[in-house]
Amino acid sequence: MEAIIRPDEEAAALLVARIIAKELRANPHLVIGLATGRTMESVYEWLVRMHRDEKLDFSLCSTFNLDEYVGLSPDDPHSYRHYMNDHLFRQVNVDLRNTHLPDGQAPDLDAECRDYEKAIAKFGGIDIQLLGIGQAGHIGFNEPLSALRSRTRVKALTPTTLEQNAPFFGGEKKVPRRAITMGVGTILDARRCILLATGSDKAYIIAKAVEGAITAMISATALQLHPRCTVVVDEAAAGQLQGADYYRWIFENEPEWEEFRGTN
Ligand code: F6R
Repeated sequence: MEAIIRPDEEAAALLVARIIAKELRANPHLVIGLATGRTMESVYEWLVRMHRDEKLDFSLCSTFNLDEYVGLSPDDPHSYRHYMNDHLFRQVNVDLRNTHLPDGQAPDLDAECRDYEKAIAKFGGIDIQLLGIGQAGHIGFNEPLSALRSRTRVKALTPTTLEQNAPFFGGEKKVPRRAITMGVGTILDARRCILLATGSDKAYIIAKAVEGAITAMISATALQLHPRCTVVVDEAAAGQLQGADYYRWIFENEPEWEEFRGTN
């Protein structure tokens, strides 16, 4: 795992967008794993801007989102399908037929989860998986005690997650209690993982996820097992990292990051 610290939220999101853009330019058929949530909004803003100003081409890529609420229709403004259409898909030239989210209204949810795994495999697996992190350390909706080898399945959301997502629904009682989510094992199968966290609210859990012991209580710790995982944080989210000076040195000195320096 590698931790990269950028000065602020905007610079952190820009770095993530530039990593995705670089991969997409190198492989127009890229299979991108996507996340939703507040943190990702600025990444999608940057990608939309790159599409508009630099002609970043999404026409041949495919996408698989991490999760979707059970019971919400794609037209529901709170659904993740709606979020993705709004923040990214309708603003770039991706072929909507190549964009995938689990169907939270499927009559047989278990079959839907199995089919989602099959679809990912059919597309050759995920090349780069974008991740956020919840206050309690989930990636996707892999809540505490999620098996570190779990696959796509239905998960009940914890009170912390219900509270975290309540503002979007106008109250905790209105948040769906279950979601379909890629499993931790599904995420670890991606060839590259990029986790983005910003703001001081995430400082405690980022320190646990990056420098703490691997535990099913914090599914993000499983990323320590991934051979190519980059955690991008702003200074606020880096606030409790013991190795922050070392991580800053890496970004300033390692050749891999040279082309990403000096942009923001
Ligand atoms: C959403 C997802 C979640 C979020 C996480 C952080 O698709 O998978 O794990 O990434 O809950 O959400 P924000 O960015 O709203 O703090």
